[in-house]
Amino acid sequence: MFRTHNCGELNISHIDQNIQLSGWIQKSRDLGGLTFIDLRDRYGITQLIFNIEKDENLCLKARKLGRECVIHIEGIVVERSSKNKKIKTGEIEINVIKLNILNLSKSPPFTIENNTDGGDDLRMKFRYLDLRRPISKNKIIFRSKIVQEIRKFLNSNEFIEIETPVLIKSTPEGARDFIVPSRMNEGQFYALPQSPQTFKQLLMVSGFDKYFQIVKCFRDEDLRADRQPEFTQIDCEMSFVTQDEILNKFENLIKYLFDSILNVKLNDFPRISYEDAMKNYGNDKPDIRFDMKLHEINNLTKNKGFEIFDNSELILGINANECSNYSRKSLDEITNWVKRPQIGASGLIYIKFNTDKSIKSSIDKFFNTSELKKILDYFKAKPGDLILILSGMKNKVRKQMSELRIMMANRMGLIKKNEFAPIWIIDFPLLEWDDESNRFHAMHHPFTSPKQNHIDILSQSPEKVLANAYDLVLNGNEIGGGSIRIHDMNLQKLLFKLLGFSEKEAQNQFGFLMNAFEYGAPPHGGIALGLDRLCALLDGNESIRDYIAFPKNNSGRDIMIDAPSHIDNSQLSELNLKLDI
Ligand code: AMO
Repeated sequence: MFRTHNCGELNISHIDQNIQLSGWIQKSRDLGGLTFIDLRDRYGITQLIFNIEKDENLCLKARKLGRECVIHIEGIVVERSSKNKKIKTGEIEINVIKLNILNLSKSPPFTIENNTDGGDDLRMKFRYLDLRRPISKNKIIFRSKIVQEIRKFLNSNEFIEIETPVLIKSTPEGARDFIVPSRMNEGQFYALPQSPQTFKQLLMVSGFDKYFQIVKCFRDEDLRADRQPEFTQIDCEMSFVTQDEILNKFENLIKYLFDSILNVKLNDFPRISYEDAMKNYGNDKPDIRFDMKLHEINNLTKNKGFEIFDNSELILGINANECSNYSRKSLDEITNWVKRPQIGASGLIYIKFNTDKSIKSSIDKFFNTSELKKILDYFKAKPGDLILILSGMKNKVRKQMSELRIMMANRMGLIKKNEFAPIWIIDFPLLEWDDESNRFHAMHHPFTSPKQNHIDILSQSPEKVLANAYDLVLNGNEIGGGSIRIHDMNLQKLLFKLLGFSEKEAQNQFGFLMNAFEYGAPPHGGIALGLDRLCALLDGNESIRDYIAFPKNNSGRDIMIDAPSHIDNSQLSELNLKLDI
């Protein structure tokens, strides 16, 4: 037997009991005749005492052990004279009577404590040690709890968990695929799934009706704090459902998670159109924990002799409440911030509505007081407010302003970490034009259904067609996306045509799906939530790396196992591959 208890559970009620514990040595200290060891396992830390007067050999054996050695002890629980209120076991300690060394450990490359001296790279290289630190371990346990609750909810809502293949066919839509060569089929390749999209649709044709899968997806795209090359989706699909039914079901799932995990009761999620999101927030994943909406002021600013505005397609402003007291230096800082290449604005205009009701702006030369007042009124500005204005090409200026909005909210302390503001974005356009490839791309994916009353204009004005597509956004992060799907073969064919596929290409790539649609495909739709993002956000973070046991770094490398790596020539030739280097 290795243990009767774990290192986090003994307390005053166990006094005088003979117990056994196993774990890792967090640290040890020698004080005269006494040696103290903090023994750690997943559940906590318990203090052990070795008394040289009681058992000299035992005490000397204990003194030789360094950090992270694995031991098994037997001992008696005693009350501590000086109690440690910070830990659960702080009222007791163990008088050790037997010590069994289970394994020795080299001195760890960084201290295994929350406050560690290990840098990012080192901790990633020794991720298994990093995961011994409570702060890292707890995030993985948090994820496990979320996954359990998700399964509980979906099981009780009659969803069936089904696995779909990982070696599939490469498709040209979406992000880049990760490719796997096939040894048995010379010159041919599998792709790893970017999502199980087509398979879950086929499962609807099979009649499973409600499917889910907590599934790894793979995308070869540039990485950021909220993006990993392999990540996990809570992938769901339902038959015979309307968009509203899907939104309600998954809104309930998110509410259930917040309630069961955080004890937070969320209100009903607002639903706004993509068009309104772009107009009011400049992007399709607005953070609505604060207001500060974007206002278009072309009418109030053009033809006043200010060339920059006159030459701009769009002039946008935000009202930074109670910021009119910003100094020249602060305004210069903000201006420099928007001019950084990452944001790319050419400059920033401001209008201060001072608390004494006087108005001061950087465009005083071109706008008189009553013109400036009109702008202030449009923003419903109060004395003490500051209006910040950017102008330029429509798409660029919207993006710049949405970034400025977030930056200002951070600066003004409007973003609260433990506040949660989910929102559905609906009515996405079906297609978006891409200048580079000179063709339409599916905004969501090619299987998304246009709105029923837009099907008629699909061929003539594809750019005007809206889709039954939706995203779920939480605190400015996209945590899920889905749509009602096309289930009619002819409509699917038309869509592939609009996306620039020849009939042969469409048949070649997606023939299996269109064939399936000929055998009684039910109307269906679904959603996929990003599990890693959901875990991070529920825990008040935005970086998903810590919620993945063995994540990749920003160059897509696993530095612990050193992957990706070269393979030798014999393996290459077995796969019929040659490298020209
Ligand atoms: P979508 O591409 O929107 O939809 O993906 C769904 C959700 O997955 C998460 N996500 C990611 N998380 C971490 N790293 C990444 N690289 C990454 N990429 C996406 C996001 C996103 O909202 N098949 C469709 C869903 C459907 O239509 O049902 C799909 O994959 O949180």
